[in-house]
Amino acid sequence: MEIKRVLVTGGTGFIGSETVIKLIEAGYDPVIVDNLSNSKDAVIGRIKTITGVRPTFYKVDCCDEEAFRKVFEKEKFQAVIHFAGLKAVGESVVKPIEYYSNNLESTLVLLKLMKEFDVRNIVFSSSATVYGVPKRVPLVETDPVGSATNPYGETKIMIERILTDTQFAWKDLNVALLRYFNPIGGHPSGLLGEDPNGIPNNLMPYICQVAVGKRDHLRIWGDNYPTPDGTGVRDYIHVLDLAEGHVATLKKLATDPGLVIYNLGTGKGTSVLEMVHAFEKATGVKIPYTIEAARAGDVATNYAATDKAFNELGWKAKYNIIDACRDAYNFQKKNPNGIE
Ligand code: NAD
Ligand code: UFG
Repeated sequence: MEIKRVLVTGGTGFIGSETVIKLIEAGYDPVIVDNLSNSKDAVIGRIKTITGVRPTFYKVDCCDEEAFRKVFEKEKFQAVIHFAGLKAVGESVVKPIEYYSNNLESTLVLLKLMKEFDVRNIVFSSSATVYGVPKRVPLVETDPVGSATNPYGETKIMIERILTDTQFAWKDLNVALLRYFNPIGGHPSGLLGEDPNGIPNNLMPYICQVAVGKRDHLRIWGDNYPTPDGTGVRDYIHVLDLAEGHVATLKKLATDPGLVIYNLGTGKGTSVLEMVHAFEKATGVKIPYTIEAARAGDVATNYAATDKAFNELGWKAKYNIIDACRDAYNFQKKNPNGIE
């Protein structure tokens, strides 16, 4: 089936906005639904500046069935990319009810409407967190889904299950579960990037804020892991590569594959210290740091096996961490107070 008009929930967010750009560039017609709980509507204007196209935008909460149904009535979607959700690991421990209800309810309402309007394709933003503590790396898609160490991760595991059961019962539905590793970077124009509220939890936005003097120094959580330099190893993927992975996945869904699961990562592990050095090399800015105790819930090493995505989607990451550091820093410098 031909896919052209795509509902992008959470499309003004960090990954969603870059994906909307790639969709426009690839000839799709994306329509954004976002409640702006963690993004700004100014993103729409920036997408227009970059692509020349202003995507249709609805400020609607995906949990609000009535309002969301009106969007389905008005637009004729052939596919959905479901980014909308709350994503802060630490916050999810403090606010489990908000996380379970927002992430699960939004997905259930969405699926109900997809069934009602016979929309048969969905791409879901899952996470490497569903693998739990890896028994070995690289992680392959057939590795068991573990249990997460926090409510945010549990919502990803539960939603994967909900989508799997729904696809089992509704055979015409095509589902892609995309397990992202660590998305970083930003649009090379400096117009779009990661804009976290408050003190960043993730490594790259924290380093960027140190680089512009907003934070004094980076605190490295542990240097005693069984890794080459003792600091944690992750698979950092440029958000532009991740966005392209969604375009490749839509092409796959158009072939009616049923349920498919892909890791979206680079296949390469990078330690925290290697990332600090890469950032310094990419930007010329020195990042002071201290070594602190390991952070609860962190694993030592986590990176993706990428063969399946390459063999079945013809997709692989093109950018390296130097590119990602440069683009993340460029966004931070141009938007010292985030997107306004
Ligand atoms: P983001 O917060 O920038 O984007 C999510 C968007 O969803 C925001 O614009 C927010 O306003 C919107 N939203 C939240 N709840 C909503 C609701 N009920 N109705 C409508 N809109 C709602 O996050 P992101 O980094 O772009 O992540 C996108 C998706 O990818 C999320 O589902 C996230 O869990 C997943 N993911 C992210 C990472 C990461 O490290 N960034 C890693 C793995 C998976
Ligand atoms: N780190 C520091 N100092 C910081 C922040 C992070 O040393 O200030 C270290 C962490 O200990 C870890 C690495 O940098 O070794 C990466 O940490 P992030 O917080 O950036 O990323 P995580 O791998 O912990 O978590 C990310 C996403 C989660 C997702 C998880 C698994 O933020 O949403 O990957 O996919 F669940």
